[in-house]
Amino acid sequence: MDGRDQVRSVWWGRAVGAVRALRAAGSVRGLLSWRSAWRRRRADRLGTARRGPERARVPGAAARAEPQPGGGVVFFARSSLRVRVAAGGAVFCGWDGAEPEPSYALAGTCPEPDVRAVLEPDTEGGWRVVSERVTVTVSRHGAVAVRTPGGVVLRRELPPRWWDRVPGDGGGVPAERSGESRWVQRSEVAADARFFGLGGRSCGPRLRARRYRLWNTDPGGAFVPGDDPLSVTMPVQFVVADAGTHLVFHDNSWDGTVMLREGSEGAGSGHDRPGCSELRMDGGPLRYWVLVGTPARVLLGWTALTGAPTPPPRWALGPQHARWGFGSQEEVRRVVSGYRERGLPLSAVHLDIDHYDGHRVFTVDRTAFPDLPGLARELRSEGVRLVSIVDPGVKAEPGNAVYEGGAAADAYVRDARGREVRGVVWPGEAVFPDFTDARVRKWWGGLYAERLAQGFSGVWHDMNEPVSFAAFGDPSLPRSARHALEGRGGDHREAHNVYGLAMARAGYEGLLELRPEERPFLFSRSGWVGMQRYGGTWSGDVATGWPGLRASLSLVLGMGLCGVPYSGPDVGGFSGVPSPELYLRWFQMAAYLPLFRTHSAVFAGRREPWEFGPEVVEHARAALLERERLVPYFVSLGQLARLSGAPYVRPVWWSTPRDRKLRDCEDAFLLGDALLVAPVLGPGVTRRAVRLPRGRWYDTASGQAYDGPGQVLVDAPLSRIPVLARAGAVLPVAGGDGVTELEVWAPVAGRAGGGVLVPDVGDGWRQPEVERFETRLEDGRVVVERQGGGAAGYRVRVRGLADGNGVGREAPVA
Ligand code: GLC
Repeated sequence: MDGRDQVRSVWWGRAVGAVRALRAAGSVRGLLSWRSAWRRRRADRLGTARRGPERARVPGAAARAEPQPGGGVVFFARSSLRVRVAAGGAVFCGWDGAEPEPSYALAGTCPEPDVRAVLEPDTEGGWRVVSERVTVTVSRHGAVAVRTPGGVVLRRELPPRWWDRVPGDGGGVPAERSGESRWVQRSEVAADARFFGLGGRSCGPRLRARRYRLWNTDPGGAFVPGDDPLSVTMPVQFVVADAGTHLVFHDNSWDGTVMLREGSEGAGSGHDRPGCSELRMDGGPLRYWVLVGTPARVLLGWTALTGAPTPPPRWALGPQHARWGFGSQEEVRRVVSGYRERGLPLSAVHLDIDHYDGHRVFTVDRTAFPDLPGLARELRSEGVRLVSIVDPGVKAEPGNAVYEGGAAADAYVRDARGREVRGVVWPGEAVFPDFTDARVRKWWGGLYAERLAQGFSGVWHDMNEPVSFAAFGDPSLPRSARHALEGRGGDHREAHNVYGLAMARAGYEGLLELRPEERPFLFSRSGWVGMQRYGGTWSGDVATGWPGLRASLSLVLGMGLCGVPYSGPDVGGFSGVPSPELYLRWFQMAAYLPLFRTHSAVFAGRREPWEFGPEVVEHARAALLERERLVPYFVSLGQLARLSGAPYVRPVWWSTPRDRKLRDCEDAFLLGDALLVAPVLGPGVTRRAVRLPRGRWYDTASGQAYDGPGQVLVDAPLSRIPVLARAGAVLPVAGGDGVTELEVWAPVAGRAGGGVLVPDVGDGWRQPEVERFETRLEDGRVVVERQGGGAAGYRVRVRGLADGNGVGREAPVA
């Protein structure tokens, strides 16, 4: 995005805000949202200590160092830095005495130190910690460099700078101990490096020069590329350069910004300009983790640190349909039979807030949905599950059992003066459970019993940034609102970004306790680092339009690199009426994303495929059937994500991060190791360029083989988007009879291929066995062998061996 685009996006944001305020002024909810905005402002005026005078601080000169297991501590004149390499290779750096815990991001306790890593004096007068995968050097003034074992610098952190409140102004607590110092850290990366990550961003996946905010936000209208921030922000940078890949995570949930700027190379003149990042935080600890290695290695380490992604049940990998405004159970039935009658597979239907009684969470509008459990049973017998939206805002009114239960349990966020914080969400005036309190999570989790009794199979968490409609200012809770923060106590400045994550934990743990035999299915609009432990996410209210389609791919790719593999967009966009072509192209892309769900706003057009004419129905059916065929592959990828952190959907540079042209390619993605998907992201396209990683790739529609690296032109008729298969790939798919079989793409002579199948062992907790296959070409025959011996044991279908038609033919299999 260039400067002009940024200005445009700022103006667009303001225009949306102004329209929101004007629209708000007319309605009851609008009046409430004015009141709520004033209330929030007043609460903050009364409840937040003014910053007062501040004093800038840098670490100063290093005086000494003290070795400790895994590294040690370097003491500077005005700070200290702890460097600790953890078993598994992740490096922790903590300034001012910051420790890895407590942390909302870490899964369980902090990993043990790698005792082989030791702190020793450096020849340059500083110190260094040498470990197997990375060397960290600390200069005498507090610059930190992260190097590969070969000594190449991946990241150089300049000495940080803090702004401490002048002592005496913070109740006697030195600012650096109260966690309220603002700070900035500037870093440099290689001139050729590219930035990815930062959670779900609309203008990626490659993050170009601009300021990105770290404050989970409902954009308050459908978003377009460039709108920032959105619902999931994460201080996680995934940096890919020729010298290596690294991930840096600043474990700090406060509000902040990251300014990124890619570097540039001086074309041999020796005047390279490094890439840089500047992280500014409003408070909280300056502590971070760095992981180094190949992209796969980095995500493996990331999963070890922040938790394994919970694999969705098989049905959640099938096609799903949602709508805000189904209206009635009859309408739901009509939509489901519409799918059935047209031979369109459907796995789940999602009910939005309109099925609640007056938008009150954990209730049912019994006029429109007189027998929800009956409807759920009936749909289930046809193989269709029901998923329920769950919003955190509880309508604050006497007689509302949920409200009263929470009030009795003292579950709601309070302001600095001890009164319940009131905001405005869909049901009107609402209160907000404090999910940072284990007691409250337990109470809330218990409420899911009602959802299960209604027959729902999974939940969809929404509005959990958290949102409180506001005619002006931040549409969330006052910054001074108090939170338990697991007993440490604190305010919304620290709790805001982890609110959705903690709500996901409450929902997940509740479902687990209520229905222990099944893996919970949960996905959430907002969240933070570690949310994959509880479920996935979706792209929120992406605007209907070609730019929205692009933004939705950017979000899925970014989230995957931040460790959250299960996600997908509202097919067709949330806000408007897509053209048949746009709808179809969106549908075709989403058929290859883990969460494949159509959805739209109550005021937008419908999203059933037949709303777009017979041609769209025909092509949508092909996409749906292909998705169904690929479900065994998706199941395998879900399990592999659990084991390795590798997302289903990966950037095209995943296995070849040194290929610079791939690093800059943003219009295609890999689905697992086997497939390269090249969606159509603009109108009128019937042929498109596809940049291939190295190796041979087959166009799965024509069987035509291409040799990468390089760019090729492939057909993209309206009936399908280009999908290429890697030579040698073994793809588990559902055969015509539904039985899993292996689709094998002919390997190149002399080069082995392979793939993985993780059988579906149900929606419970049984650990499936990972089956690995190898393929090679022997005398023109494709041989498929199971690792560890034994016959493949599956029906094998070979593709890509040219026969008379140029399309794959069956071949003998070992
Ligand atoms: C939010 C959600 C959207 C949902 C709507 C009504 O805008 O992002 O998906 O339909 O609320 O619940």
